Amino acid sequence: MATELHISRRNMLAGSAATAAVAAVPPAEAQLQPKPQVAPTTMPLSIKVNGKRHELQVDTRTTLLDALRENIRLTGTKKGCDHGQCGACTVIVDGVRINSCLSLAVMHQGDEVITIEGLGSPDDLHPMQAAFIKHDGYQCGYCTPGQICSAVAVLEEMKAGVPSHVTRDLTSGIQASNMEMRERMSGNICRCGAYSNIAEAMAEVAEAQA
Ligand code: FES
Ligand code: FES
Repeated sequence: MATELHISRRNMLAGSAATAAVAAVPPAEAQLQPKPQVAPTTMPLSIKVNGKRHELQVDTRTTLLDALRENIRLTGTKKGCDHGQCGACTVIVDGVRINSCLSLAVMHQGDEVITIEGLGSPDDLHPMQAAFIKHDGYQCGYCTPGQICSAVAVLEEMKAGVPSHVTRDLTSGIQASNMEMRERMSGNICRCGAYSNIAEAMAEVAEAQA
């Protein structure tokens, strides 16, 4: 009899854990109940895009990329990875290039955004757009809006003396070398591999500006 009543400490702990696990599983009906809907929080957003002011009411979770594409209907800016890894969504905000997929729209209250549509038009191309065409700086074109916005901002960064990891001499101005271009454009991925042509296009614009 004594052996039948013997419960080891190990068996006791295992039994308790199993009971707790079963108790933690909600009954099947509870799992089927619809979850209560939480209304999205929205905020007013006043933002200038390509010189035009937009007054929007946006869900606070909306990225700048989605606000541009879905709310303002400027679909030139592309969504590649939506995780800050490809650069397809690059736009220029107050003169600085950013990945618009990594930035919430409501963080840009009053900001001025330039997208590919604001740089130039088919009848009046921005010099960088013209150089991309001349040097075949694209194939499928999906990364191109981000590449061009980035390239335009890169030339401004160099003019402003902003160093990169490969800048060797900060005292005599930053040279628009091929290595500088490639380093600064390394956040813009091109799956078609148009990198050499993009660097050539940028070099031509940099030379013309100089
Ligand atoms: Fe923004 Fe890829 S879509 S970095
Ligand atoms: Fe196709 Fe760059 S041109 S991904």
